[in-house]
Amino acid sequence: MSLRRRPRVVSTALLLVLSAACTGASGGQDGPDRVRGAKPGAAGVGDKLFPKMGNGGYDVTDYRLTLDYTPDSNRLKGTARITARATSALSSFHLDFAGLHVRKATVNGRTAEAERQGTELKLTPAAALPKGRAFTATVVYDGKPKTIKDPDGSEEGWIETDDGAVGLGEPTGSMAWFPGNHHPSDKARYDITVTVPKGLTAVSGGELKQRKTHGRHTTFRWSSAEPMASYLATVAVGDFDVHTTTTDGELPQYVAVDPDEAGDSTKVPDQITKVIDWESRTFGRYPFSSTGAIVDHLPGLGYALETQTKPYFADAPDEMLLVHELAHQWFGNAVTPRLWKDMWLNEGFATYAEWLWEEDHGGRTTDRTFRNFYDGTDDESGGIWDFAPAAPPSAARVSDAPVYGRGAMVLHKLRRAVGDKDFFTILRTWVKDHRHGNATTKQFIALSERISGKDLTKLYDVWLFGKDKPAKP
Ligand code: TRP
Ligand code: ZN
Repeated sequence: MSLRRRPRVVSTALLLVLSAACTGASGGQDGPDRVRGAKPGAAGVGDKLFPKMGNGGYDVTDYRLTLDYTPDSNRLKGTARITARATSALSSFHLDFAGLHVRKATVNGRTAEAERQGTELKLTPAAALPKGRAFTATVVYDGKPKTIKDPDGSEEGWIETDDGAVGLGEPTGSMAWFPGNHHPSDKARYDITVTVPKGLTAVSGGELKQRKTHGRHTTFRWSSAEPMASYLATVAVGDFDVHTTTTDGELPQYVAVDPDEAGDSTKVPDQITKVIDWESRTFGRYPFSSTGAIVDHLPGLGYALETQTKPYFADAPDEMLLVHELAHQWFGNAVTPRLWKDMWLNEGFATYAEWLWEEDHGGRTTDRTFRNFYDGTDDESGGIWDFAPAAPPSAARVSDAPVYGRGAMVLHKLRRAVGDKDFFTILRTWVKDHRHGNATTKQFIALSERISGKDLTKLYDVWLFGKDKPAKP
């Protein structure tokens, strides 16, 4: 069910004169040589599972994307305005971007040299960027966006539907529709404006700030108040029925349903309200300014995605899938792993949310679900002993069974070791301490030991890091 199946060269003599004459970045003509120690930014952040994803030397604070999409020709025109801060002195830096044509690039309003190599877009600004300085890069692009085939065989990136398209980004697909620092460790705010033919709707994360029809087109402006990892960004274009309401907790809720899925989705808005209410009581206050869902009609996609504030469903979701994707709003979206290998912090937790929900709603107890996973009788327990949940062996396996089912088993073992009170305090503190940031497995272990006052080394060694199936508990 919820599883994903689911520069400029200057002579040495001139350089000496320049460095002797200039101490700051002011005065005279500037160039990459003018900022002391400016170097090209790295083409990756050093994530071993995805070596090319993300980039070094800067930290994005804001994306402003202005998109225009024509479903008939599958043509996307875009302008990405990226505001960032240099974390080292940069003579050039990279963005991740796949396919499409770059028409123009600027940095701080001046034309920048743009070079492409594979999924890397290298920008060389007219003037180097001093460490600590905020800067703005603009990329104007167009073309037919790519669908990306993942290492594990599933599709993401830009995917056409029968009435539009959707942009999906886990783990790398967002680079197919906008250039950026596409690694979960660099969260930023997003403002996404999409123009589509009149009659269609463009849905994205966050809150709808403006909707305006001009002639034969409608423009939708979406704004995400809280920071977001780029893999959680989405745009869905198509024919949608929109259901807006307010949850019990006074959150604005926006549910977009493809008419082809309307018959099977009548309960979805009420179910979301109910699930958000239960999850808020269980995990602590909901971390974003709005909630909702996108229920599209894309049979065969084979997975759902916890896109921020509005999870994406390829068809009408059942209640358990809603529980899973909405739990990710706490685990994955508010608290995001720093590296892809820590995906169990997302999937193990969202899976455990399902177990807890079932226990609380007249289904199996979590002890029973644990046993069903251990003895292989649960439908989703196949392959859970293939590797340790905290150590996926390759990019192709970050969404495999051990990360989900065995990840949830780790949490159940923890709960039984520390008791309910400390366990739920650990979960809520985890979200509170790292809300809108990134975190690591090591930090989770330390937190659980601090709150419980117990040495949990053995438990984690066996259940989280152990390669083999542990002896019967
Ligand atoms: N996160 C999605 C879910 O839990 C599944 C998924 C889709 C995924 N693409 C992925 C997980 C890439 C890891 C990597 O429903
Ligand atoms: Zn998940």
